Amino acid sequence: MTNKLKYFIANWKMFGDLKSYKIIANVNKFNNKYNKIDNYKIVFCVPNTLIHIFSRKLKSKTILIGAQNSTHHKESGPYTGSVNPTMLKAVGAKFVILGHYENRCEGETNELIKKKLIESHRKNLKVILCIGESLNQKKQKKTYQVIKNQLRKILDKKTKPENIILAYEPIWCIGTNNLPKEIELRKIITFIKIECKKILKSKKLPKVLYGGSVNPRNIHLFSKITQLDGLLVGGASRSSKEFIDIIKNYYK
Ligand code: PGA
Repeated sequence: MTNKLKYFIANWKMFGDLKSYKIIANVNKFNNKYNKIDNYKIVFCVPNTLIHIFSRKLKSKTILIGAQNSTHHKESGPYTGSVNPTMLKAVGAKFVILGHYENRCEGETNELIKKKLIESHRKNLKVILCIGESLNQKKQKKTYQVIKNQLRKILDKKTKPENIILAYEPIWCIGTNNLPKEIELRKIITFIKIECKKILKSKKLPKVLYGGSVNPRNIHLFSKITQLDGLLVGGASRSSKEFIDIIKNYYK
């Protein structure tokens, strides 16, 4: 395992109320003792309703608060229910997840995700960009083609590598307890990095994470994959014990 900076990102999805801050407080307490040399950063992507209060309460340099989606609309206007990067930034979000499969299911296209990414960057929000293939696409051996298409449609040479974190989330692994084979995952992560290098025309590479059914029992499978820069954790991030154990077991 290398000593490069890693990311442990929590995606709470539609979960959490004011009392859920306890989860972050517990992780913060653990992190203050454990993360002495800033080996990693933690980002809690919480519902918009909690961003302000949580980011005000949290005093940490290595734990940050993020959002889970945003609109691409710049100006306020007739967009019922929408929240834009300016608004997210103003309440304390530092990151935003874009392109999550659950939002792609609602009709989000690569073209729309690109618009969201541009607007998020304009407002200095770092983007956690989710990509990945469906089970059908995998069966048809289209994984690489799908990933390449997603990357090429969303990123371009104006995208700065330090402003994005890629999260490879095979759709068939999200919330299913399915996991990719180690060898496949190594190849795909390397492929994503090489593709990004070509698209961004940069020597610096963005971080690339894995997401999908990560928990404390299977985390050892990921810690040996040196190509990986961290994990995006859904279900298991809603328990401080599970999330802490993921980090502890990763470094075991
Ligand atoms: P999961 O979700 O860890 O519950 O599979 C991951 C995600 O959707 O980001």
